[in-house]
Amino acid sequence: ADILRVGVAGLGTVGASVVRLLQRQREALAARTGREIRLVGVSSRDKAKDRGVDLSGAAFFDDPAALAASQSIDLFVELIGGAEGAARKSVETALAHGRSVVTANKALLAAHGAELAALAEEKHAALAFEASVAGGIPIVKTLREGLAGNSIERVYGVLNGTCNYILSRMELERLSFSDCLTEAQRLGYAEADPTFDIGGFDTAHKLAILASLAFGTRIAPEAVDIEGIEHVTLADIDAAAELGFRIKLLGVAQRTAQGIEQRVHPTMVRKTTSIAQVMGVTNAVTIDADAVHELTLVGPGAGGDATASAVVADIADIARGVRSAPFGLPSASLRPCERTPVQRHEGG
Ligand code: HSE
Repeated sequence: ADILRVGVAGLGTVGASVVRLLQRQREALAARTGREIRLVGVSSRDKAKDRGVDLSGAAFFDDPAALAASQSIDLFVELIGGAEGAARKSVETALAHGRSVVTANKALLAAHGAELAALAEEKHAALAFEASVAGGIPIVKTLREGLAGNSIERVYGVLNGTCNYILSRMELERLSFSDCLTEAQRLGYAEADPTFDIGGFDTAHKLAILASLAFGTRIAPEAVDIEGIEHVTLADIDAAAELGFRIKLLGVAQRTAQGIEQRVHPTMVRKTTSIAQVMGVTNAVTIDADAVHELTLVGPGAGGDATASAVVADIADIARGVRSAPFGLPSASLRPCERTPVQRHEGG
């Protein structure tokens, strides 16, 4: 009875790291949760591929939805990615069967988070998604639990590791945009389609999730004003530097008189601010709130082990029986998205 039987769908960079971390921390996790967390099933596109992980003891499923529906598991971990297709179908299947779900899939949550949360509540299943925003930074827990006694005014930060890596390398190594992007892809940080990263859409998905936790808004990526970094040049970076600024792709969600405003765009931040110091694949999230005033979390925003850290934390929560309401009740209204000029200042 004290075994949590886990199925993992998707054995890419993050999936393989999750399997490895569960094995490496087996005893510590058992001590922390009081249960044995056992990997009993996996699903991936390529069964034969050697990922350097031990999958003995886990049954292989060609179809992730079949794994999600299988009576052999208690918890379904979705690491396939994408807002539709196999990811959506398998998560819906798991929840419909009353099985809890852990996902790192920001695109899926941005598109269907409200419906999935309703389905989870109806079936008394958990839907946990710490890994969907800012990789290894426990920002979901911080907003939902750590800051439960606050009224939040603003959440903003660097939410895409690939973009921050590109902007950092362009400035420090004088490399071209495309060389930096190729390197980010090689390191496994970028999305399968890197347009999601550099176009600002990945940041928008994460921002919409954060806004929903911070303000109780419905997750609505279409209400985010988005501009990516594809037009940022070395000349722009140098011009900003001469004025004492650095260009960052920021996601910002804040209260306004017209509702919650959400925007993503390249922003000039003063070099002396903590956000400006965040270089490479690192993410940072700052929260302005009435009781705590200002809080910044900085940490790895992408990569297998960092993201697996967040996935395993959710698995441990579910092993302990924690089942948080996925999102707050919709309470705040969204300000309609409007086009804005390219570069604005944040953080004084
Ligand atoms: N492509 C994403 C990033 C991965 O670069 O931040 C983490 O969500």
